[in-house]
Formats: sequence, structure tokens, C-alpha cells
Amino acid sequence: MSKATNRRIVLASRPVGAPVASDFRMETEPLPSPNEGQMLLRTVYLSLDPYMRGRMSDAPSYAPPVSIGGLMVGATVSRVEISDVPGFAVGDWVLSQNGWQDYAISDGSGVLNLGAHPARPSYALGVLGMPGFTAYMGLLDIGQPQPGETVVVAAATGAVGSVVGQIAKLKDRRVVGIAGGTEKCRYAVEELGLDACLDHRSRKLKEELAEACPKGIDVYYENVGGVVFDAVLPLLNARARIPLCGVIANYNGDPAAESKLRISQVMSTLLRRRIRVQGFIIFEDYRSHFGEFQKQMKEWFEAGKIKYREDIVSGLENAPEAFMGLLQGKNFGKLVVGVATETWAESRN
Ligand SMILES: NC(=O)c1ccc[n+]([C@@H]2O[C@H](COP(=O)([O-])OP(=O)(O)OC[C@H]3O[C@@H](n4cnc5c(N)ncnc54)[C@H](OP(=O)(O)O)[C@@H]3O)[C@@H](O)[C@H]2O)c1
Repeated sequence: MSKATNRRIVLASRPVGAPVASDFRMETEPLPSPNEGQMLLRTVYLSLDPYMRGRMSDAPSYAPPVSIGGLMVGATVSRVEISDVPGFAVGDWVLSQNGWQDYAISDGSGVLNLGAHPARPSYALGVLGMPGFTAYMGLLDIGQPQPGETVVVAAATGAVGSVVGQIAKLKDRRVVGIAGGTEKCRYAVEELGLDACLDHRSRKLKEELAEACPKGIDVYYENVGGVVFDAVLPLLNARARIPLCGVIANYNGDPAAESKLRISQVMSTLLRRRIRVQGFIIFEDYRSHFGEFQKQMKEWFEAGKIKYREDIVSGLENAPEAFMGLLQGKNFGKLVVGVATETWAESRN
């Protein structure tokens, strides 16, 4: 065994506004030992996702909050170090929900075996996993972009948004991304193949969006809310669809990020233009479609039709800072923490 202890990052306090370093605490405990019928999993990659901000709060939500002193939740890609669970051999890579820690004990419930030699194990946390699935279902089942229509996607270079834009392009629609900064916008157009991409920090976002969408907007894939939604609303066409995936601008409760629109103005626009807005929580609403998604995405990915960018931060101890950065747009691509770097290096050989 290479380590005698397990490091875990727990919630020290509930953030007021944006999370700060003191809201997290690193603890160390003896390495847990698996009992009969259990296995020991070593975290290699930890996924950092915006929903974790919701779990740090005790406001009512679709999932229970992390308790004070409780382990921060999160999806992980791990390797099996000891196993007494049928179907899981030492050395197998697995996808599970082990949270922000080095090791976890599992009886195999809810654990997906990725096999002994997956080509890119961390991709199960991104394009081939939850974020990719969210993009796929939200765009195709709720957005349903039709020939000749214009799709706008917010947070266009992120884990979800980058896949939304590329699927819409695969369907041959006009796609306009919105992202934070020149470099992300360049990437969205030159690498992901979007028709245009606009910086949401531009003071002229409304005018620039109108120019980029001369026929209006038919599908707005909402990841952000706030000022981005304000720019989109006036341009929505009759019978437009809004897959309401996330409103990250609001997660820290920052008043400056709030939409400037009045609710009555939003409601009357939705009514007059017969716009359909549908919120969804991916695994609550679409779990039974995961196999269909995996098959299709693997096919597109292997054919080189979908590009994927990871932003890998090394070291569990750096997870809090990386997570705080995610809520400010500092990540460029799917944010993942490389927790066990030596095992990680092995996976790339
Ligand atoms: N409904 C579901 O089941 C489900 C599942 C997965 C994800 N989601 C939601 O999907 C959205 C994207 O998640 P992701 O995992 O793909 O994250 P991501 O896009 O990889 O990273 C978050 C991005 O959000 C943007 N952002 C952060 N704060 C912002 C602000 N105040 N204003 C504008 N943009 C801001 C930043 O991009 P820029 O630098 O480009 O602004 C940042 O890089 C989130 O809202 C998340 O909650 C929902």
C-alpha cells in the first residue's frame, strides 16, 4: 500500500456568497480497510462540477446538502486496490461517487466498472459521462433544433456547453456560443466549429448577439442566467425552446449577476412568443437514456466528430481553489482534479 492515510476535504462552513478557502477543511484519517464483500478504491480523478455549490448550501434542493463537517460530494474515477466484490478485480478502473478524498470503501453499489485498460479513464467524468449526457438530452430532447434554426449556447467552452455546440453543428444548425473572454471564443469558433462566439463581458453583448443571430434564436441552451439571459430574451423567436440546464451566474447569490429583467416582462415575452422553457436534472429525468447516449457519443467521439478539452488541476489539496475558480470562469474545459498523479501517469502510457 503506497499510503497509510486517507485525506478528505470536508465542508467547514456554509458559504455566504462565493465560497472561500475557509469553507473547506482537509482532514486525515487512517486508511480504511475493506471488510468481506467490499473493495478499497483509490481516487485517481475527481470531477469538480457547479452543482457542488448547491450542496454547500442548506437551501431546499433536489438533493440533500452536505452537512457541516461532511465529506464534499463528487464523482470520481478510481482504481481498485483490494477487492472482495464479484466483478471488480484489482487494477480495474471504476466510476463512482467517492467525493473529495484519496480512498473509499465500496460494496460495488452504484459503481460502474470501466475495465482494466480504458483508453481515457477521466473522460467518464466529462464528454462520455454526466456533462456529455446533459448536453445530449437537453439539446436533442428539449431543444429539438430543426433545420434552418439558430441555436445559442451559454458557457460554450465548458463541459456541457462545448458538447451542446458541437452536437448542434453535427445536426447542421447555425450555432452561436457565449463564453468568457477572447481565448475561449476563439477556441469555440476555430476548434469546436461554432459559427460565432461572443464574450459575455462585452458591454455590447446585446447588439453583438443580435448581429450574430439575424434570424433570431430558436433554441437557447441555458447554463448561465443573469446578463446572458437578458441579452437572449429579446431575440427569441416564436415557439423557441429553452433547455434550462443551469443558472451558474446565480449560484453565489451575487446581486450584480442577477438578471435585470422583471419577472412580468419575462413572463409576457414567454407567453406572447409561445416559448417553452423546461428545467431538467439529468439523472432524475433521463437515467433510462444513458445507454443510448453512451453508444452515440462513443461513435461520434471515435470518429473525431466531437472534440473535448480537460482542465486538469493536480493534487487533492488544490480542489477548493479550483472549485472556487470554476464559479468565476477560470476553468477552460472540463474541470478535473488529478488526485493520484502516479496512477494517472500510468493511465496515459
Ligand atoms: N441540469 C443538470 O442536470 C445539469 C448537469 C450538469 C451541469 N449543469 C449545469 O450546466 C452548467 C454548466 O456546467 P459545466 O459542468 O459544463 O461547467 P463549465 O461550463 O465547465 O464551467 C462553468 C462555466 O460557467 C461560466 N460561468 C461561471 N460563472 C459565470 C457567470 N457569473 N456568468 C457567466 N458565466 C459564468 C464560466 O464559463 P465562461 O468563462 O465561458 O463564462 C465557467 O467556466 C452549470 O450551470 C451547471 O450547473 C446542469
